[in-house]
Amino acid sequence: MCGIVGYIGTKKASPILIDGLLKLEYRGYDSAGISTMENGYISNMKDKGRVKNLYELEGIHDLSGTIGIAHTRWATHGKPAKENSHPHMDNSNTFSVVHNGIIENYQELKAFLYDNGYHFLSQTDTEIIPNLIHYYYSRSTEIDEKLLHAIHLACKDLKGSYAIEVLCKDEPNTMIVARKDSPLVIGVGEDENYISSDIPAILSYTKNFYLLNDGDLAKLSKNQVSFYDLNLNSISKELKSIDWDVSACEKDGYEDFMLKEIYEQPKSVRETIGSRLKKNEKVNFEDIGFTKETLSKFNKIYLVACGTAMHAGLAVKPMIEKLCHIPVIVDIASEFRYREPLIDENTLCIYISQSGETADTIAALKLSKKEGATTIAISNVIGSSITREADYTIYTHAGPEIAVASTKAYTSQITLLTLLTLYFAEVLESVDAKVINEIKEELLLLPEKISEVLQDSTKVKDFAHRVYTEKDIFFLGRGTDYTVSMEASLKLKEISYIHSEAYAAGELKHGPIALIENGITVIGILTDPNLVEKSVSNLQEVITRGAKTLIVTNQELNKENYDEVITIPNTNPLISPILSIIPLQLFSYYISKEKGLDVDKPRNLAKSVTVE
Ligand code: M6R
Repeated sequence: MCGIVGYIGTKKASPILIDGLLKLEYRGYDSAGISTMENGYISNMKDKGRVKNLYELEGIHDLSGTIGIAHTRWATHGKPAKENSHPHMDNSNTFSVVHNGIIENYQELKAFLYDNGYHFLSQTDTEIIPNLIHYYYSRSTEIDEKLLHAIHLACKDLKGSYAIEVLCKDEPNTMIVARKDSPLVIGVGEDENYISSDIPAILSYTKNFYLLNDGDLAKLSKNQVSFYDLNLNSISKELKSIDWDVSACEKDGYEDFMLKEIYEQPKSVRETIGSRLKKNEKVNFEDIGFTKETLSKFNKIYLVACGTAMHAGLAVKPMIEKLCHIPVIVDIASEFRYREPLIDENTLCIYISQSGETADTIAALKLSKKEGATTIAISNVIGSSITREADYTIYTHAGPEIAVASTKAYTSQITLLTLLTLYFAEVLESVDAKVINEIKEELLLLPEKISEVLQDSTKVKDFAHRVYTEKDIFFLGRGTDYTVSMEASLKLKEISYIHSEAYAAGELKHGPIALIENGITVIGILTDPNLVEKSVSNLQEVITRGAKTLIVTNQELNKENYDEVITIPNTNPLISPILSIIPLQLFSYYISKEKGLDVDKPRNLAKSVTVE
């Protein structure tokens, strides 16, 4: 979704700002703009369309300011258009503001500002912010920190979510930023500071970051950052070092980030396992340190997330129930948060989010904390919002995921949840050690087996070439294979725009089989030896009705029955999603390429969904 970049230092700001915006393109956007502090005025240049178009705006190469703010907008209030793009300025051109998030009471504030003589050029909620700041600033009686006070008062009026950067013409060596429910980090350099909504945008300039909390404000000069809480009390913050590699945010010779991230999975899964699992040792979650007594009090576990992260939850539900004997409910965060779910102090709620910034997941987490549940956050982004809200945090360590379609985060989430399940089962002594050891051994073999799956993608590529013009594609499976079907179907929809459905194979006869007609494509996933015969029968039913079939399996099958069979290495069925999803990630990727689409930045989608 929208992205923010800022710079305050000694170098020309505009190239740094545009470079940062280019690195944020993956988040999804429809317009872009920058404001820089020039000699005695604020320049504001923006338009709808791609970031690179900014280079064509008249006068952009003449900008010489060393302080600036920048933004990529993903339209919420008002269509993609120049006037709705950020930065927005107040009526007197004294303030320039970029904003991520949604101001829920903007109509009310707009009416108030109208009554006080202000007018508006856009349909956005954001445009009220510079005008509200002007309202307080122009009436201020403060002698010190007039700007900071005005921004603080404006923020107090805002309901909803925001991460903002503010420039003021009267204070040309200062920038003020603030956040609530929308991410913002400050990167610290020598005689310069960088601001961004996402670490990758400024990772090539610094690895030292301050993370802002909800309600925080920061005042920046080129060599100083001062922090304030919501009551404007001065606060101090710890500088954190992020160990992400800059090259991890680049394509490294791959055509697209998605392809790179698919091929990174042997490494990312290995990193997720890290030092938590070593041969012949117990699983290590010292950082959580649950006792048998603590774990025994949980009478249910919620796994709450959105999209792919929710599918990772679905994939591990059977394993948690089987190994820990605790009922598991997997829920969509946007449903959970409005349904008054039955949770109390005997509930364990696990929140899964690659970005750690998904608005619904954060809101669901806050709700369950209020009801007394114990909360664990699983995230890929150090210091992200859910990690700061949850009682416990565990990181997937998959490395930055840039492509909008999530791939390596999914396999790392399942890997981490598997480790957590094994840890719970060991502490609870709920299952024979032999069962646990077998899964542990298989888990350690996974990076090798993923490499094996990735070695040859010819069959997947060929099948994608045969079916890329289809209008509908169906995915079938049972048990964990059904959960992989859902993820594979989501991937296909996202990046190929082909309509697709995932069905539990046993449900077919209860309705969906009516959709099967001559020539339709059906993809079957068959990795559980206990269910394979049943699924084979269901596939036979669609083949009889003329379906073309692609099968992903680790079982011995009569290959002649199918149009294409992709054989993957055998593993414990409880963790097979980590292997079986990989050819299907590639399938979506190659379909998207065949159709000539933008794989990494599919239409209408954003990498992190920071509004509900
Ligand atoms: O950052 P999160 O894991 O919380 O994101 C959740 C979903 O928005 C995300 O998984 C989405 O479904 C992906 N685009 C799927 O590829």
